[in-house]
Amino acid sequence: MKLLENKVCLVTGSNRGIGASIVKSFAEEGAVVYANARAEGCIDEVCEKLSKDNNTQVIPIYFDVTDESAAKTAIMQIKKEQGRLDVLVNNAGIMKDSLIGMIGKELMKEVFDVNVFAAMSMLQLASKLMKRQKSGSIINFSSIVGVNGSAGSLVYSASKGAVATLTKSAAKELAGDGIRVNAVAPGMIETDLFKSIGPEKIEENRDKIFMKRFGTPEEVADVVVFLASDQSRYITGQIIGVDGMTIM
Ligand SMILES: NC(=O)c1ccc[n+]([C@@H]2O[C@H](COP(=O)([O-])OP(=O)(O)OC[C@H]3O[C@@H](n4cnc5c(N)ncnc54)[C@H](OP(=O)(O)O)[C@@H]3O)[C@@H](O)[C@H]2O)c1
Repeated sequence: MKLLENKVCLVTGSNRGIGASIVKSFAEEGAVVYANARAEGCIDEVCEKLSKDNNTQVIPIYFDVTDESAAKTAIMQIKKEQGRLDVLVNNAGIMKDSLIGMIGKELMKEVFDVNVFAAMSMLQLASKLMKRQKSGSIINFSSIVGVNGSAGSLVYSASKGAVATLTKSAAKELAGDGIRVNAVAPGMIETDLFKSIGPEKIEENRDKIFMKRFGTPEEVADVVVFLASDQSRYITGQIIGVDGMTIM
């Protein structure tokens, strides 16, 4: 028996990075996956291949997570086609920042729109559906900097700190409905987002990791599979570090 056999899952921001790995791992574990991306058509081919390779359905679903009405339409499509939603992975995220004193309101709004407000809206929409079936698993994306803070990361770290606390609050409120809410807090994972800090900072950061290497998207996806599956059925309200023991 595969870990996610027949579970209906939605993964946001899944055209690259950690989201793409999660979709692949979910498909390999037998899930029916709705893979979200923004650019119309960009993951059609990969979804078709994953469906064939794993004898399951990996369905592209295109919307911007900050567009509330498009997100609602997407959830309604899943309800119509599958009648249920077992797992939501709020993976879509952006990292933009500046030094204190140079941060404009627009930047703050942009980062919070994607990382916090969209995650909360998706959680609201998904949990409405999950409440009816009295079960579900929601996995949010915090970050090691959302737990510990980091110099030069005022906005991004605050947004990921908000994700950590909203996860705990939602877990408390939704536990009675059979819905679990957890978050992963990755350290430094080799994706475009991490590479955007530049080669110098990347090398500086390696020394902060006790395992002396950066993480891979697959290593985060493995934890997300566990949290999505019934193997974690007594785990909720947790922020799980995936960081090779990093001290920021
Ligand atoms: N990599 C790390 O070291 C690290 C560490 C801690 C936490 N995280 C978190 O892990 C998650 C995944 O990060 P990653 O490293 O895989 O980043 P990434 O490679 O930059 O990928 C981010 C994904 O989010 C999507 N996205 C951004 N804004 C969106 C929107 N408005 N609507 C829909 N999709 C949107 C992007 O789509 P487009 O291609 O259209 O932009 C892309 O697919 C994020 O929440 C990030 O904050 C990452």
